[in-house]
Amino acid sequence: MDTQLKKENSMQNYFSIQDIDALDRWVDEAIALKKAPLQHKALGMDKTVGLLFFNPSLRTRLSTQKAALNLGMNVIVMNFTGEGWSLEYGDGTVMDQGTSEHVKEAAQVVSQYCDVLAIRAFATLENREEDYQEQVLNSFMQYASIPIINMESATGHPLQALTDAITIVEHTPIHKPKIVLSWAPHPKALPQAVANSFAEMVQRMDADFVITHPVGFELASQITNQVPIEYNQEKALQDADFVYVKNWSAYTDYGQTLQDASWRITAEKMALTNGGKFMHCLPVRRNVVVDDSVIESENSLVIQQANNRTYAAQLVLKKILEATQ
Ligand code: CP
Repeated sequence: MDTQLKKENSMQNYFSIQDIDALDRWVDEAIALKKAPLQHKALGMDKTVGLLFFNPSLRTRLSTQKAALNLGMNVIVMNFTGEGWSLEYGDGTVMDQGTSEHVKEAAQVVSQYCDVLAIRAFATLENREEDYQEQVLNSFMQYASIPIINMESATGHPLQALTDAITIVEHTPIHKPKIVLSWAPHPKALPQAVANSFAEMVQRMDADFVITHPVGFELASQITNQVPIEYNQEKALQDADFVYVKNWSAYTDYGQTLQDASWRITAEKMALTNGGKFMHCLPVRRNVVVDDSVIESENSLVIQQANNRTYAAQLVLKKILEATQ
């Protein structure tokens, strides 16, 4: 294999958006996969992907399974909550309390059953430093001997962000698009993971990008970098081509929430945009985050986004299989 090809095929883990070497090319490849999803069915023959869920899922679980099946892979799924042993991550811990198995053994054991491992482990929203250290994903990456895929960790959801890039490119107007990431209210404290990865991803696209949220809901500055923040939501929405809506709890006053219905996405607000497309990763709380009239409008892309989850996951699995052949 020549050096350039080896470099292009060198992906071991898909932990974050930073693992995408060329976003434009990845999006093009995903769109090609979507047109002929079974064309690489032989690639995954006799290979097994294990999906470990420490949190609930609909889209991630089913689309990743579908992606693996499209590549001819076997799939093993395990829900840790209520089914798996409670894992210990600390070094040197005297395990005489609630945890039953150390990640050091668990990761090595699972590595013998699978060729690729995908993990979902959300933030606890109790301790920012611990969440941002990504203990679960990093521990599995440290002790497993197989590639790891992030199916939403404490701080990122790179499969969703790749999906969103694919969906935006598929619907991009002729001109450079204006993309707005808007905070919206939610009754529960939610992690920053989706917003973080979306913000990182859009910074790699050719777009005018604005983030709007209430004061105090700034994402981490190492994520947003120089992206303009507009605290007036209606001003931010002016002439937007895409409106990506998501709740997240505070990063600074970590885990704090805000119930402010004035940030809900309504048809009146969407009328300020340039015929803007409404996007949300789902699941979504209707009439809290967004009005029925918006999510059910012809400008809503939420179902197309969910469909593209399969091709984002399939592309990542394909690249990992090619790199480990
Ligand atoms: N968007 C997304 O990750 O959906 P699920 O939580 O249902 O997997």
